[in-house]
Amino acid sequence: MSFFIAGTGSAIPDLTVDNYSFEKILDTSDEWITTRTGIKTRKFISDDNLTKIASLSAQNALDNAQVSKDELDLIICATLQGDYIMPSLACLVQKDIGANCPAFDINAACTGFIYALDLADSYFKAGKAQNILIICAEQMSKFLDFSDRSTCVLFGDGAGAVALKKGDGLKYIDIAAQGDFEDLYISGARNNMPFADKNTENQNGYVKMNGQNIFKFAVSTVTQDIKKALKKNKLKSQDIKYYLLHQANQRILETSQSFLKEPSDKFPKNLQTLGNTSAASIPILLDELNRANKISKGDLLLLSAFGGGKTAGTAIIQWSY
Ligand code: ACO
Repeated sequence: MSFFIAGTGSAIPDLTVDNYSFEKILDTSDEWITTRTGIKTRKFISDDNLTKIASLSAQNALDNAQVSKDELDLIICATLQGDYIMPSLACLVQKDIGANCPAFDINAACTGFIYALDLADSYFKAGKAQNILIICAEQMSKFLDFSDRSTCVLFGDGAGAVALKKGDGLKYIDIAAQGDFEDLYISGARNNMPFADKNTENQNGYVKMNGQNIFKFAVSTVTQDIKKALKKNKLKSQDIKYYLLHQANQRILETSQSFLKEPSDKFPKNLQTLGNTSAASIPILLDELNRANKISKGDLLLLSAFGGGKTAGTAIIQWSY
């Protein structure tokens, strides 16, 4: 006995930035960004902060699940970084929503949602929880070098959340990591300790990416992981109602779709309007589907993500309400 998804929520910042805005500051074009990525706009946090967006998505998920803050046994936030290094974003959300359970952050980059589900699975199986709240919230805009056209046009900010209850909705979950950092990383703070030699490495805190290597990693990982998940569960590709794949690039989604020979409407997308929201992309998609009443009891959803650290994760979830 593990969990089922009892409710979903999301929250998106107000500021919309379209591809034409980048034409004004970079040698790029709407045509290049659209054809190479599928992204037309993204949302950035400007007046708000990440805690506010994360807390709003959390409250939406609790309301949707009809779970009260007092019933929560655990809050897990998947994020690259909250508004503070300490306290965790999970603790800030806990305060905002008025809960009193343990709360902590995890970082598995864009695979954070699947890692958080895997962790929650262990808590439910160990009998340590009846209700768990997962929030995936990212402020990618603070990690972007707006003079680097190969990365800054790709990402957006946002938050998605799920409320989990003890039950039988999780059919399969598998997570992995290759521990690699050279193709995709954000460096940490410089060591300012005055008694050591200065670290001369460039540590500017911006996303650095070898796009082509990540593209190849993404395509091979997602297709292999989906194949493995279907085989292990004796499922055919048509048995899955929706494939919720990490929203990094339209061409990665199309490659997975042609590999599975399934229609495009089984691969919901939000990258056109939101860009790559890292760990938040799949839970935001899930909330969009749920609120549009596109998922019914018994439907099988396959979730698959990849991200920094060459992390990857796949889950099959049966919708239970
Ligand atoms: N506008 C115009 N030209 C650009 C831009 C831009 N925004 N960005 C790059 N270019 C140029 C390059 O400089 C290069 O020019 P050159 O030939 O003169 O050197 C040319 O376009 C081709 O560059 P490539 O990198 O080969 O372009 P590619 O077709 O591979 O597309 C992209 C780049 C979109 C980044 C693609 O590789 C990709 O999507 N990779 C995967 C990215 C990804 O999944 N990231 C998320 C990872 S995990 C996570 O979510 C954190």
